[in-house]
Amino acid sequence: MSLLKRPRRNRKSQVIRNLVEETQLRVENLIYPMFMLDGVNTQQEIKSMPGICRFSTDLLVKEITACLEVGVKSFCLFPLVNDSLKDSIGSHATKADNLYLEAIRKIKTSLPEACIMTDVALDPYSSDGHDGIVKDGKIINDETVSRLAEMAVMQAQAGADIIGPSDMMDGRIGSIRKALEEAGYTDTSIMSYTVKYASAFYGPFRDALDSAPKSGDKKTYQMNPANIREALLEAELDTEEGADILMVKPALSYLDVIQTLKQNSNLPIAAYNVSGEFSMIKAAAKAGYLDHDKVMNEVLLSIKRAGADIILTYFAKEFAMLSK
Ligand code: PBG
Repeated sequence: MSLLKRPRRNRKSQVIRNLVEETQLRVENLIYPMFMLDGVNTQQEIKSMPGICRFSTDLLVKEITACLEVGVKSFCLFPLVNDSLKDSIGSHATKADNLYLEAIRKIKTSLPEACIMTDVALDPYSSDGHDGIVKDGKIINDETVSRLAEMAVMQAQAGADIIGPSDMMDGRIGSIRKALEEAGYTDTSIMSYTVKYASAFYGPFRDALDSAPKSGDKKTYQMNPANIREALLEAELDTEEGADILMVKPALSYLDVIQTLKQNSNLPIAAYNVSGEFSMIKAAAKAGYLDHDKVMNEVLLSIKRAGADIILTYFAKEFAMLSK
């Protein structure tokens, strides 16, 4: 054959392949989501998420210390709340001495270099298992938003670096930003769960927090997986309302959405590689169907290549240890 163009020339050795490599994934781009529970010296593995545990605060501090040593510096925390503390308005979320706020204070005091992202939504605290307040079978927006703003201010006060509203109520970014400004937390960032789909990939997470909806689903607030133009609308609103970072969730079935947001926004883009995406790989690797480490690297790289500057992933610690 007489070919002038042979793309294989740019793949002929590892050195050349490295020269032309377009995307690099670094541990600095990752945020590690972690689960916590009440008690002392307690650690429970989550059955559907092999290797991922709920930690009592003392062990959580130890685990964060170990992560910092391998280069993971950012953490997103989620609390398992005892059923007896749950009610319809998620009162426990704004109790000043609750497990979550106490843990944030403790972590930020003992490990100030750890960047702590918090979760703003009512589901871990709600007896209905919804992200908002339920009245007559409906998730009511505006009353929920004032609860969320209250939660966000208390988390900022406890020392959170980044507030992560994961609830998908309308107008919550603006209300939270305003409440933070009024309380003097002008430096507290907001990473909005801007485009959060009503996804079946959240199953293992709901096991971890025992937070599945008691009735119905989340389709009146989380987005329809069939839609992408709506993602641009959500991005526009969150940007106007003062979000610092826009997130797409889940990641793998939504790489097109990540790319679209990246092309249409000047804000940093994050993607949440969610629990179900993690568990699928763990299960396939355990069955011997896939090479765990290679698939993990490929998946995380693909999310970065699609346009995510930041990736929230349960693989963060393993990735960091592997790339040491
Ligand atoms: C709820 C919330 C969910 C996740 C993060 N925050 C689940 C849901 O919306 O039901 C899912 C994360 C994951 O699956 O890893 N506010």
